[in-house]
Amino acid sequence: MRSPIPDYLQEVLDDCRNADGGAVADYIPELASADPDRIALALTTPDGTTYCSGDADVEFSIQSISKPFAYGIALLDSGFENVLAKIGVEPSGEAFNEISLEENSGRPRNPMINAGAIAAHSFMDGKNADERAERFRERMSMAAGRELSYDESVFTSELDTAYRNIAIGYMLRTHNILETDPDDVVRGYIRQCSLSVTTRDLSMMAATLANGGVQPVTGRRLSGDRAVRQVLSVMMTCGMYDAAGDWMTTVGIPAKSGVAGGILGVLPGQVGIAVFSPRLDSHGNSTRGVKLFERLTEDMGLHLM
Ligand code: DON
Repeated sequence: MRSPIPDYLQEVLDDCRNADGGAVADYIPELASADPDRIALALTTPDGTTYCSGDADVEFSIQSISKPFAYGIALLDSGFENVLAKIGVEPSGEAFNEISLEENSGRPRNPMINAGAIAAHSFMDGKNADERAERFRERMSMAAGRELSYDESVFTSELDTAYRNIAIGYMLRTHNILETDPDDVVRGYIRQCSLSVTTRDLSMMAATLANGGVQPVTGRRLSGDRAVRQVLSVMMTCGMYDAAGDWMTTVGIPAKSGVAGGILGVLPGQVGIAVFSPRLDSHGNSTRGVKLFERLTEDMGLHLM
């Protein structure tokens, strides 16, 4: 029976469902087979209540949405000073897969582009790719509030064609930004990107950030305030890559996108939001996902300014 109470999230979803444009990422062969018409929206409040609509329980790979979390874990495991010495915090104004290293130091400009994220991965505890990926999976499971796992087909598919990231890894090794085997670090980074999540999971992770690092359901503190502030700050300036200015003016909250079609947004103290739609724009951000956030901002006044 149709509910007599209008479902706001469903209405937002239906409004954005047919927005034009965008194409599923195909540089990772496994992502090319995603259903382009999937769409989902989820919101989690600081008391741990999640409101969802659409395909919110469909799994997809986290991809670049892993980057802010891996950066947070790197800060925790290796300390601010060591991480900041090797990874900058300035927007690059370039695409996510550009080399974007500072001229003399060879420091990647920020931890949201691939170069900075590959470096950040190496600062998580663990002797090798498998141990670091396992550390990442455990922490992310705590934030999601359920046991997460890796998507082996996405992982092998990306690893088989990772020439560009491997090149970035070797550049980072040349500058001593990476201090170990670049093949091993890139392998761990690619595994990190292949973590399977749902839109519901991402909204819980976003709510953990909105909550200053405390998981809203378990009440467990997963990060200190200072690391959360650092992570949200780089998400705000660099999370949407070379569309960061458009995003900040139209939506206005810290966010991070991934090439499988997810976007996670955080309104500090108030709500964690996640959306999913695999069609991407030219910056690698979900076309319909951006529309969903624009609509939510318009209706609910999410914008921080
Ligand atoms: O390294 C890559 O290219 C992918 N594993 C992640 C890129 C990504 O998600 C960019 N975001 N929109």
